[in-house]
Amino acid sequence: MDDATRAATPPTAGPPTGLAPTGSNWDDFAAPPPGTHPPLDSPAYRSTAKRHPRRAPLRLDPAGADTTELTAPVFGDGDVDPADADLTVGPTGEAIGQRIVVTGRLLDGAGRPIPSSLVEIWQANASGRYAHPQDRWPGALDPNFTGAGRALTGPDGTFRFTTVRPGAYPWGNHSNAWRPAHIHFSVFGRSFLQRLVTQMYFPDDPLLDRDPILGSVPDPAARTRLVAAYDHDVTTPEWALGFRWDIVVRGPARTPTEHDDG
Ligand SMILES: [Fe+2]
Repeated sequence: MDDATRAATPPTAGPPTGLAPTGSNWDDFAAPPPGTHPPLDSPAYRSTAKRHPRRAPLRLDPAGADTTELTAPVFGDGDVDPADADLTVGPTGEAIGQRIVVTGRLLDGAGRPIPSSLVEIWQANASGRYAHPQDRWPGALDPNFTGAGRALTGPDGTFRFTTVRPGAYPWGNHSNAWRPAHIHFSVFGRSFLQRLVTQMYFPDDPLLDRDPILGSVPDPAARTRLVAAYDHDVTTPEWALGFRWDIVVRGPARTPTEHDDG
């Protein structure tokens, strides 16, 4: 295809053959189906009414050239210690609770692994309490559990955390409102301006269907992609239960995230 023909090609026609990276096809880059991401204003999730944006976003890149990968702050691989992925080791002993391993792969829309990406997690402790001054509900604090961890994905896109299963906690959204057990996840691209935030849930939790935050994802199939699977092969004898959960950052099987960009 010559330049004149390419310039005349409507943008909705998809990329000309040969422009996609090797091994990719146009479907891998398609927007996720409607209903994958929660709307920023979800009335059943009451606090979104006060904090969803009411104006159009401002561009962080004034030139409009989408050069954030080149101009934004980045992190180095050496900044992340492998020990940061074990949340059960406290200053005076082990964290209290059911020890678990949470592992999965970070994948693009074609199922290819995304290596060397920073994955961060934060969660309540086994009592359902965050180690945060604004969390005042009377669940016990654990001096050996901060609830924060991070890891870099390996060459095959794998991340792996050792932690304790978080407890449910009340959150005042409505009468007798309790959050199901969950772990917050953040995934960075190669710069700090590329960030996705979501939550992982546990299977067979009776609170899943009562949670307005999980319920704010309109598509039921997309909601199931936020629930980890129990994996007996990940379970470690005499030591920890195992859960597996993959994160897909684009395409039809995309993991729902808290900021709808599509
Ligand atoms: Fe939470």
